[in-house]
Amino acid sequence: MNYNKKTVRDVDVAGKKVLLRCDFNVPQDKDTGAITSDKRIVAALPTIQYLLDQGAAVIACSHLGKPAATFESYAKKQAEKGKEATEEGWKKSLQKLSLAPVAQRLSELLGKPVIMAADVVGPDAQAKAAALQPGQILLLENTRFEKGETKNDPALARAMASMAELYVSDAFGAVHRAHASTAGVAEYLPAVSGFLIQKELEVLGGAISNPKRPLVAILGGSKVSSKIGVINNLLEIADSIIIGGGMAYTFAAAQGGKVGESLLEADWMDYSREMIEKAAAKGVKLLLPVDTVCADAFAPDAKSQVVKAGEIPDGWQGLDIGPETVKLYCSAVADAGTVIWNGPMGVFEFPAFAKGTEAVAEALSKTDAITIIGGGDSAAAVEQLGYADKMTHISTGGGASLEFLEGKELPGVACLLDK
Ligand code: 3PG
Repeated sequence: MNYNKKTVRDVDVAGKKVLLRCDFNVPQDKDTGAITSDKRIVAALPTIQYLLDQGAAVIACSHLGKPAATFESYAKKQAEKGKEATEEGWKKSLQKLSLAPVAQRLSELLGKPVIMAADVVGPDAQAKAAALQPGQILLLENTRFEKGETKNDPALARAMASMAELYVSDAFGAVHRAHASTAGVAEYLPAVSGFLIQKELEVLGGAISNPKRPLVAILGGSKVSSKIGVINNLLEIADSIIIGGGMAYTFAAAQGGKVGESLLEADWMDYSREMIEKAAAKGVKLLLPVDTVCADAFAPDAKSQVVKAGEIPDGWQGLDIGPETVKLYCSAVADAGTVIWNGPMGVFEFPAFAKGTEAVAEALSKTDAITIIGGGDSAAAVEQLGYADKMTHISTGGGASLEFLEGKELPGVACLLDK
């Protein structure tokens, strides 16, 4: 895939109406709906500010959560939960996912008003977009309130495009989605990237196409099945692959080890064996845990002990990598030229089983290597531990960065103009 895409600096934006796709899919408090982290809004500011300073009229848009765009789809979801659906309940569920709180936060951060549209391509959005002046910003309502969004409906894409003269995408977190606002609109408007996507493509693209070696990939998380594509692709590129987290137990079982009650994907044992063989054939070092912190229950205060990997007693389950594994993994990080990390080493949400993840985060904060953190849990871990500013790059995309590392074509990037 070509990562060398035109950016906002390569086109004339002055006096133009610009449709800007952001990823304002911010985390919210379950009860109050308050935004619990504005990181994604802050990440979009450089592009927004640049466009406004250059005299563009910015029509920003984003999805938020997974709303049911029709009453039928809402009723179906409710039925699955054994609940009855009412028109009022559906409307309330949509209200919770309105982008209005984002408009307010964005306005505070920009220090200027953000005009909020009551719809995406309806009469309010159309009228406000038509009246928008250079240097002003309008935020459309949640794109997923339109049923055509996730279906990449050309009629919706055309209607969104009709309000603007240029499409700018800065929604890296959503580039793996082929939706109307992330890819479809590019059929109808010249399409370029904002600064956030530009940086993500430069750093992630650089790490997989021309890395400073040795390239070490640390992969954690619970399931082998969710990381197959990444392991497979990185076996072609990396010098070492380090495995931690729940998926290590499937690898241990595949080598004939005893894993007790640990998380195990029996269907993926053959695949794990294949990966071990493939790594050996390609000369890629595949590091697996040598010891494990196991517990007598999946609980924060469970009784725990350290055992050799593959020797977990019956009734016990592995919840973190052990101290010898920590030493092994940290020394691999210290010698690396580039480290890509995706997925925690253990059950990070329980302090007693967070030591492996903490140690890896600390090792990354100290190495001279280029350090790239995939979005999601490992990004959250690095931030919680206070190491965020010690990393070269923390991706703003969870699913998107994973698909990037899988070597997949990302529709929201492929649709942008090549340089
Ligand atoms: C994310 O939060 O990873 C992106 O905004 C994509 O969201 P989605 O998984 O709802 O498409």
